[in-house]
Amino acid sequence: MSGGFSSDWLALREPYDRRARNQAVLDAAAAALKSCSPVRVVDLACGTGSTLRALSPHLQARQNWKLVDHDPGLLAHAMATPLAKDVSVAAIPLDINRDLETALDGTIDLVATSALLDLVSAPWLERLAAAVAARAIPLYAALSYDGRAGFTPQDPYDAAITTAVNAHQRTDKGFGPALGPAASAFAIARFEALGYAVAQGRSDWTMGADDRDMQNEILAGWASAARDMNTLPHDDITAWLARRRDAVAGGRSSLYVGHVDFLAIPSATR
Ligand SMILES: C[S@@+](CC[C@H](N)C(=O)[O-])C[C@H]1O[C@@H](n2cnc3c(N)ncnc32)[C@H](O)[C@@H]1O
Repeated sequence: MSGGFSSDWLALREPYDRRARNQAVLDAAAAALKSCSPVRVVDLACGTGSTLRALSPHLQARQNWKLVDHDPGLLAHAMATPLAKDVSVAAIPLDINRDLETALDGTIDLVATSALLDLVSAPWLERLAAAVAARAIPLYAALSYDGRAGFTPQDPYDAAITTAVNAHQRTDKGFGPALGPAASAFAIARFEALGYAVAQGRSDWTMGADDRDMQNEILAGWASAARDMNTLPHDDITAWLARRRDAVAGGRSSLYVGHVDFLAIPSATR
């Protein structure tokens, strides 16, 4: 939800992502792979390795991960993850918009990704679904923003900001016009049309009074996105941000941001 993908932002959000990940979907992913040894996983847009750290402890001991991202700095962080004895990782610096098929080269048991699908376009998601289905393997996609957000205490301007943010989510993030909040529903429908069974569940970020840094980062990112859209007076956005920051500073603010996790499994392997 922040404008960029700095390692600082990914480090700040990781504990919230980890807590939010849907346990039933995570368990279903582990169950789908229980007969694989080694388990070969490609993590698309891995960032600093959040999915590796969240999923790896739930899988069979022997694992080979390919970590794919176009940012070499984030890949270097991911490669520094302490690993269990039988887990190996390889960094693959690639632009997955241009070179998705290269990223999926070789034998794979699972394609994993997190906090990516809301950034991509419908044609790219169709390309991903087709490539995954051609290999008859599962896809685990966590933490796609779904357009829901809730603020406490309520502010009369929250709804206008959320609408502007959701419109910003649909702008081009490098893959063509992004699916934004519609991404997980679009992807799930696509996989079901390809004969996949899908397990899905919510994975909302929840923040209470003590989560000041995370709340402030999200609020700043949302104000910036709303300004970019130029649909609301900038003074009103600034005033909204000031009111919300006051509530955070006063320990009176809580916030949730809606996400969806899903696991798509080819029906024949269920
Ligand atoms: C929101 S971050 C999520 C990172 C990580 N999966 C996580 O959950 O923390 C989005 C990631 O997508 C990567 N990314 C964006 N566009 C990309 C592209 N065209 N090719 C490869 N990686 C890309 C960014 O570098 C960033 O690591």
